[in-house]
Amino acid sequence: MSVQHPTSRRSALQKSTAVLAVGTAALAMSAPPKPAPAPPSVPRPARPAGSSVPKPVPAPRPINPTPTPAPAPNPGQTVAGPFRYTPFQVPLPIPVELSPVGIGTSPYKPGDCFHGIAPEYFDRRTAEAPHQLWYERGPEKYYEVRMQPSVHEFIPGVKTPIFTYDGFYPGRTIRSRVGQPIVVRYWNDLPVETSIHLHGAHTPSHSDGSPHFFVLPGRARDYFYPLSVPMLNGQPDFAESPSTMWYHDHGLDITDHNVWRAMCGFCITVDDIEQSLIDSNVLPAQQFDIPMCIQDRSLNPDGTLAFNPLDNNGHLGNIWLVNGVAQPFLKVERRKYRLRILNGCNARFLELKLSDGKPFMRIGKDTWLLPHPVEEPTMLLSPANRADVIIDFTDAPPELYLHNILSQDNGRGPNGSFTQRAHLAAPVPFMKFIVEGEPQPNSATINAATTLRHHEKLNPADAVTVRTFDFHRRNGAWQVNQQFYDPNRADATPTIGSTEKWILRNNSGGWWHPIHIHLESHQLISFNGGPPPAAFAYKNDTTYLTGNGVVELLMRFRTFKGPFVFHCHNNAHEDMRMMCNLDPRVTPTQAPTLVQASFP
Ligand code: C2O
Ligand code: CU
Repeated sequence: MSVQHPTSRRSALQKSTAVLAVGTAALAMSAPPKPAPAPPSVPRPARPAGSSVPKPVPAPRPINPTPTPAPAPNPGQTVAGPFRYTPFQVPLPIPVELSPVGIGTSPYKPGDCFHGIAPEYFDRRTAEAPHQLWYERGPEKYYEVRMQPSVHEFIPGVKTPIFTYDGFYPGRTIRSRVGQPIVVRYWNDLPVETSIHLHGAHTPSHSDGSPHFFVLPGRARDYFYPLSVPMLNGQPDFAESPSTMWYHDHGLDITDHNVWRAMCGFCITVDDIEQSLIDSNVLPAQQFDIPMCIQDRSLNPDGTLAFNPLDNNGHLGNIWLVNGVAQPFLKVERRKYRLRILNGCNARFLELKLSDGKPFMRIGKDTWLLPHPVEEPTMLLSPANRADVIIDFTDAPPELYLHNILSQDNGRGPNGSFTQRAHLAAPVPFMKFIVEGEPQPNSATINAATTLRHHEKLNPADAVTVRTFDFHRRNGAWQVNQQFYDPNRADATPTIGSTEKWILRNNSGGWWHPIHIHLESHQLISFNGGPPPAAFAYKNDTTYLTGNGVVELLMRFRTFKGPFVFHCHNNAHEDMRMMCNLDPRVTPTQAPTLVQASFP
């Protein structure tokens, strides 16, 4: 079986590249897009259960119609820059699963592609612990994905050229088991260089999407994901099993634009512990388990994506997307659902709240399940944060909205301070749940006391090295410890097998920076001088630095040599070099030094 590429898609591809080029050129000359205020859309009054039939989606308008000056919007319409639409008319797209092109035996030979399968794939051993096999089980799976231009409707009837994985936005979901290695061959049919990062994964350096390990246009690279967990005392450490990861572009200096052009998707894995929670109906089955990528974007009057490459502060949009469509609806039964919410915005922080005021039952932070559920009335998510939550719709009103209540006007971060955040006068309803039918008898049984995943707490006394990183602004760009990112400079060289304490300091005034550290989870010791918020007290891959904030954290380095990166996940700041190399070594090494290996 192989991925089909009909010729129709090929010609669409060429056309959309042309449209995109025009859009970009026009954009370079126009003023930077201004973030619009919150849309005046107001949820309509609730109707009795079962009576809320969505209106049929209107027939598509001509491609990229010339906008006419808009009269005042009808009540209930959302205004998004030059466009108006009625929200909650389009069903939430559920990302489909990516199917393997091969199971068990490799369809590939060494040398098949320019950046072929890494040597570790063939001997299954870590370079630094050659006698230690990676934990593995089951057949390996092989996937193939072509990165290609496509045309997408963020807003019904408005055709927008985007960059995609196989034409899908979000990209198709990769589903696998922990311990079951997979290989993804990514082909680049785009006019720009790319690099694919599996965010939250514990992966060898050459498969981590390091910013300059490019997949060049017209070429391919094999990404080998062992989906193993780090070893602890010779045993796999299942406290570190991943659940909700996401992949997105990570090309050097072009991440911001490529992600804005829609290059992202989910990767979901289970191990035996989580699968048994699902099989015993403690956690909802896959049918009631919905990945939701929340993003903001904005459009030019011709329907192309608005993006000012000269704006280094952070890109905000005025269109509220879930899984690629503006303000969709989802019909749900009266039972518990698991929502895996990703803040996929380039620069916008979100504070999510349910319209009935009920708290979220949070079961995961970033890649990992929490030891037990944590109740959160609202959830503050930085770009790249994930919130794995349970929502019980059993007694919910017939219409329920997922609101963003946080006010943010620019890339600086949310308005107000961390403790006194400014909330929107009119919350933005990102989507509507239509709750239907009778309460279901076989709803998942999870409750506040459920044990989800064992947590292995790191001990501050074990930290052999303390490193401090200052995140700040200079000359309108972004630095760490007075330096711009250099792909050849190893800024931190932890010794494999050791625990370190890192202090992340925000010396950039009121700017907020979501800091993502690749490779290993990190555990917070303190957040702005106090204990970390409840959901942050376990494993994290992205922790935000609030205005003048300070975070102390612990990390244990195991399994893989570097280089990897850590950086601000406001993608504009990342591209403007607020990024460092983290380069674990077998032997103790002083940093800074040259990175130990490179995979061109
Ligand atoms: Cu989600 Cu280094 O990025
Ligand atoms: Cu930043």
